[in-house]
Amino acid sequence: MRSYISGVGSFLPPKVVTNFDLEEMMNTSDEWIQQRTGIVQRRWVDENTSTSDLAYEASIKAIENAKIDKSEIDMIIFATLSPDHDFPGTGCFLQHKLGLGEVTVLDIRQQCSGFLYGLSIADKFIRSGEHKHILLVGAEVHSKGLDKTPRGRDVGVLFGDGAGAVIVSSTAITDTETQAHILNTALYADGAHAKELWLPAPSNAMGAERMSQKMLDEGLHYPQMNGRNVFIHATKKMSECLAGVVTKSGYQLKDIDIFLFHQANMRINMKVAELLGIDESKVFNTIQDFGNTTAATIPIGMDCAIKKGVLKKGMLVGSAAFGAGFTWAASVWRY
Ligand code: ACO
Repeated sequence: MRSYISGVGSFLPPKVVTNFDLEEMMNTSDEWIQQRTGIVQRRWVDENTSTSDLAYEASIKAIENAKIDKSEIDMIIFATLSPDHDFPGTGCFLQHKLGLGEVTVLDIRQQCSGFLYGLSIADKFIRSGEHKHILLVGAEVHSKGLDKTPRGRDVGVLFGDGAGAVIVSSTAITDTETQAHILNTALYADGAHAKELWLPAPSNAMGAERMSQKMLDEGLHYPQMNGRNVFIHATKKMSECLAGVVTKSGYQLKDIDIFLFHQANMRINMKVAELLGIDESKVFNTIQDFGNTTAATIPIGMDCAIKKGVLKKGMLVGSAAFGAGFTWAASVWRY
């Protein structure tokens, strides 16, 4: 018994925010953003839309694409760093919105690596034989949590809102060369760098109050990042773990048909391609259109690649991600 991705869906809120729009708010420029990151535009939600709302739309599409009835889903894994509320996890809100009944819900907090961590968990639950169809969602509403003034421009220009979902289903494999299945996933973390990319507040580790006026005045409720350090670690760790998981799967990098990397920065992805000697044309990027949607980037990329006819059934996919924690992960699957 193995697992495979039987359905894919994504949802991006309709409001487009261009780099020129950000110029009006953040003392930045289209040229700076495009040169440093490759981002041209991103999507932002309206005030009435939450992370679970985006996840709902993506999930419905993934369920339709898998050609299953939603009652067949026996577990939800929800990856996000921008939950509807601190608790309970956003997966419970999604379960209720989808009307799924009392199925297992697991929220995971691995940020940009969240989708691949979730894929690994889903794969293991399916292989155990206890679950048949797992809904794995990555969804983020970043726009409500960014400092949209010049003070926050270093981080504020990078992120966008969106959701991607897949259905991970069980399958009996007789031919690994043609049949869709997940071959391997590899997951890593190094908490020594936890404060290199983080959201300091609200916090139980910074005094008597979880949230104080001082924290607000200092902007500690906005994400903070040491961009250079993230860049150095991301390129090294993504390439190392991707190469490792491809080898473990019995393939060489040249055998991979398409690479779906996390979309933090076009330069990170081009550097990973360069380090591994990957043909850039095999790396499918969406960052130019959607910015960094954290846990949602890989399923959104997968959905876009399928719709553009770039990712076809039977292809071998190599995926890698790096994010806050630091956490990083890689996976190989046949679609
Ligand atoms: N617009 C204009 N100028 C800016 C902006 C902005 N949005 N942000 C910073 N600057 C200025 C800085 O103030 C600085 O000015 P100075 O030289 O006068 O002091 C100058 O640009 C250079 O700043 P750096 O931070 O050194 O810029 P750098 O070249 O390192 O690029 C970037 C920043 C793009 C974030 C880069 O470090 C990077 O690619 N890091 C990778 C991290 C990343 O992409 N994270 C995404 C989220 S994490 C994840 O998903 C893995």
